[in-house]
Amino acid sequence: MHQVTINQLADYKDQEVELKAWVRFHRKSGKIQFIVIRDGSGFCQTVLVKAEVEESVWEQARLLTLESSVTVRGVVQQNPKNQKYEILVKDLETIHISDPFPITKKEHGTEFLMDHRHLWFRSKSQWAVLRVRHTIVKAIRDFFDSRDFTLIDSPILTPTAAEGSSNLFEVDYFDEKAFLSQTGQLYLEPACAAFRKVYCFGPTFRAEKSKTRRHLTEFWMVEPEIAFAGLADIMDLSEEFIKHIVQRVLETNQEELEILERDTSKLEAVLEPFVRMSYNDAVDKLKGMGSDINWGEDFGADDETMLTKEYDQPIIVHRYPKVFKAFYMEPDPEDDQLVLGMDVLAPEGYGEVIGGGERASSVEFLLDQIEKENLNKQDYEWYLDVRRYGSFPHAGFGLGVERTVAWMCKLPHVRETIPYPRLLHRLSP
Ligand code: 4AD
Ligand code: MG
Repeated sequence: MHQVTINQLADYKDQEVELKAWVRFHRKSGKIQFIVIRDGSGFCQTVLVKAEVEESVWEQARLLTLESSVTVRGVVQQNPKNQKYEILVKDLETIHISDPFPITKKEHGTEFLMDHRHLWFRSKSQWAVLRVRHTIVKAIRDFFDSRDFTLIDSPILTPTAAEGSSNLFEVDYFDEKAFLSQTGQLYLEPACAAFRKVYCFGPTFRAEKSKTRRHLTEFWMVEPEIAFAGLADIMDLSEEFIKHIVQRVLETNQEELEILERDTSKLEAVLEPFVRMSYNDAVDKLKGMGSDINWGEDFGADDETMLTKEYDQPIIVHRYPKVFKAFYMEPDPEDDQLVLGMDVLAPEGYGEVIGGGERASSVEFLLDQIEKENLNKQDYEWYLDVRRYGSFPHAGFGLGVERTVAWMCKLPHVRETIPYPRLLHRLSP
């Protein structure tokens, strides 16, 4: 007998197979039992007809509770109504009868589901989301690996801040203080002088005290960094990169997107050219739409939502005011109040998924910035060396995986996009 998984059933039509799975749903009547099973690779209905199985098999099946584990043997059939593959059960063995499963068909509050995250991700929608996440992670790696980028793993324990000092997680590091890394960028800049095109991909940490639908305290970020590249180059790269991810999700995850009832035409629209807009133009546009934003202020979540709802494609906003951007950004040669930074804002109200830009290449400028930001110059000496030994224009960006997953799956909150979310008031399970 063929030992198979649910995602292989199409190859075994009319043949007898054996599956190991969990019970997801059970409907019994006098003569027939429908048991929906899941095995990690998918979901399928099995049918037991009383007249066609031994009495003991029928009785065993009747005792199955939700989430019990079973071995099922039967014939693969295609349901004429929905074309889905089903199993006409011949034999069944119980592996374990589950205790009453805490997550039921009834509505559960978010906190309850998050407390049971380790069980919750067995559910169909959560399964679909994390499968899309897997596709995105693989698409990210494939994108950079196939374009001559070298993977440079950046450290998680760091002595310095890179993205502002207000959201750092501090840890005791023997007799010193250390911080959990907010970004790998400072470590990638020296590496692109050695390998030209590099990327890092790993968890990053921000002690975000705010409760928003876009912020986690631990999130995954991929960051490319390229030598001899400028703002225009990474705007083009970020557009190509996002299209690659969307294309891959559309190709790989039709089943998952269907489970999530995702309108895929919205994702197909992302394959068209992106909108590009300077910060100055974006502020004018927002004011016209009724926002109370003033020049020199960062966009609030509401501003991003308002702006992105106007277009079906992402918007690349470029050339931001220096005042609220990170210390390492290259000034705009045409306007010294601006820096050569850019953000990619996702449509449908999702907002910023990528942040990046061109890096300052002058030691004097950076020393000045470090002083203005009250950072300890000593800590950044090694970083300044990139500008001392063959300084070169370079640029890069960071894409947040969870915000991208939320957008692809059209989820209301990033907490469902990572297996074990870490939030302001959540450290477990
Ligand atoms: O815009 P950010 O802060 O940029 C950087 O960290 C740069 N050093 C990246 C670079 O140029 N190499 O963060 C980049 C992206 C954001 O656009 C967002 O997608 C994600 O990281 N991100 C978060 N995602 C979830 N929760 C948070 N608290 C996040 N903070 C940033
Ligand atoms: Mg940002």
